[in-house]
Amino acid sequence: MSLPFVKIAGTGSYLPQRVVSNDDLALGLDTSDEWIYSHTGIRERRIAADNESPLDMAFAASRLALQQAGMEPEELGMIMLSTCTGDYNYLPSSACLLQHRLQAKNAAAFDLLAACSGFVYALDLAGAWILAHQKPVLVVASEMLSRITDWQSRETCILFGDGAAAALLLPSAEEGLVYSCLGADGEKGHLLALGGGCKEPASREPRSPSYVEMQGRALFSVAVRAIEQTIVKILQENQLSLEQIDHIIPHQANLRILEAVAKRLQIPTARLLSNIDKTANTSSASIPILLDELNRTGKLKKNDLLLSVAFGGGLTYGGNLIRWLKD
Ligand code: ACO
Repeated sequence: MSLPFVKIAGTGSYLPQRVVSNDDLALGLDTSDEWIYSHTGIRERRIAADNESPLDMAFAASRLALQQAGMEPEELGMIMLSTCTGDYNYLPSSACLLQHRLQAKNAAAFDLLAACSGFVYALDLAGAWILAHQKPVLVVASEMLSRITDWQSRETCILFGDGAAAALLLPSAEEGLVYSCLGADGEKGHLLALGGGCKEPASREPRSPSYVEMQGRALFSVAVRAIEQTIVKILQENQLSLEQIDHIIPHQANLRILEAVAKRLQIPTARLLSNIDKTANTSSASIPILLDELNRTGKLKKNDLLLSVAFGGGLTYGGNLIRWLKD
């Protein structure tokens, strides 16, 4: 018998061991803890070891999510993996590498590229796929931004950190994944870009390094509007007020973005949950890392209503309304 809804049955996350503080960065850059913290809310970030790869992080997070859901990898019907930093450029996909590492023999697998909105995009797609196929889906976000960061650029390198997280989704008799809205604004794609793609023919000569390039100021105001409008849309479409949402889980790009959103929504900044002080911006992994942190520290109660909201390169944006159905 097919079940009419979808729920999250387990989460997991992984952060590399190495902690790099703002003071550590200031040793080699013209910056300071005071500047970074006051402009971003970041105190430190985790940076992967040289022998760690995005796949290693995805694998560690996935094992924990499967374990929490009490499921074996062979039971998975699909793996969706969001990343801007795959182990390989394009092929093979990180999702296929993960499928092999997990020995998830019965799962289809593909990567999803929606930058920092990747996890909210993937939850929506996973929900539709589960309703059609009635099989479990593992949604993973693994981002090693340290590998595409120019460590000599104080405008960008202070913002990013490495990490991964996963959520296991199942067909359900109760409604766990309530609603999602997704959007894109390709006209503003140039605000955050990473070169090295197939626009140029391949060459035997080594290419110059490709670092993520960002127009921070412009992104800031776009992000504030996108996050505010997505929250308002989710509330309106579901006839809810902000007071009815138990946990708002935004993408962790910059605490000042969250402060500006809170001001517009006339709510205390603390209503927009944040762990950016310790993780920095882990792109699409930031929402599921925070979700797993809330889950594992017992902050989520059964039937709590969660709202996730993200914006990212592309530009992309979106959010999910989630009823927490785990005990
Ligand atoms: N340390 C010290 N000074 C710095 C640093 C630094 N790390 N970085 C920049 N400055 C200097 C600049 O050189 C500039 O100096 P000037 O006035 O002498 O020219 C001054 O500080 C102000 O620079 P701005 O770039 O205008 O600083 P701003 O207040 O805009 O903060 C920041 C920069 C933090 C990048 C901000 O614009 C931001 O967070 N934007 C959003 C970007 C974002 O969210 N990116 C995430 C990636 S996208 C995503 O997650 C989807």
